[in-house]
Amino acid sequence: MASSPAGQEQRIEARIWQELQRATRDRHHEWRTPVLASLGPEQQVDARTVVLRRVDIAGKVFEIYTDLRSAKVAAFRKHPRGLLHCWSKRLRWQLRIAVEVSVHDAGPYVEELWDQIKATAAAKDYLSPRAPGTLLSAGPGSSTEVAQPHCFCLLKASFIEMDWLALGREGHERARLSVDGWQWLVP
Ligand SMILES: Cc1cc2nc3c(=O)[nH]c(=O)nc-3n(C[C@H](O)[C@H](O)[C@H](O)COP(=O)(O)O)c2cc1C
Repeated sequence: MASSPAGQEQRIEARIWQELQRATRDRHHEWRTPVLASLGPEQQVDARTVVLRRVDIAGKVFEIYTDLRSAKVAAFRKHPRGLLHCWSKRLRWQLRIAVEVSVHDAGPYVEELWDQIKATAAAKDYLSPRAPGTLLSAGPGSSTEVAQPHCFCLLKASFIEMDWLALGREGHERARLSVDGWQWLVP
């Protein structure tokens, strides 16, 4: 029996979220390292690769870790709107997820995450004595100095809407997932 269009849409949407969540657990998943785009304080467009740490499917929130002093934190504090871009060659799917990004640098959840990170090699990413992007006039080198306190912070990217593009040999498919539900688009 052929499935109804609504059934097909629900299945694709469920698969998208399932793949996004898998990406947080599977180091080889292409969606583990999406590109997060932002608008800087002076309206400058910027984008960088990040690691997708957690996806809350029910709340539609993506979690990313960063240094509190990084340029993206200042950018999102001024312009919370961002975009997560994911491409998977395996799935032949591109996602462009419009998000609202909030910065969390304190509170029990952030401290719980830091307690887990501080014992790992990744801790040094949040303990640099100088802010990311600072000019190193003496060139690269190892420093034993550490930032006190740590500069770990959590970015929570809340889903606004998504543009899904599926490449296919027979033809491409595209849809928008938003508060208006699923809308098919010309690819
Ligand atoms: C594979 C990969 C994963 C990365 N993951 C993160 C990350 O999870 N968080 C982060 O702040 N930077 C991450 N980076 C570094 C960023 O791409 C970027 O260089 C850095 O955060 C500074 O960006 P900003 O100046 O725009 O804030 C990653 C880079 C690569 C290549």
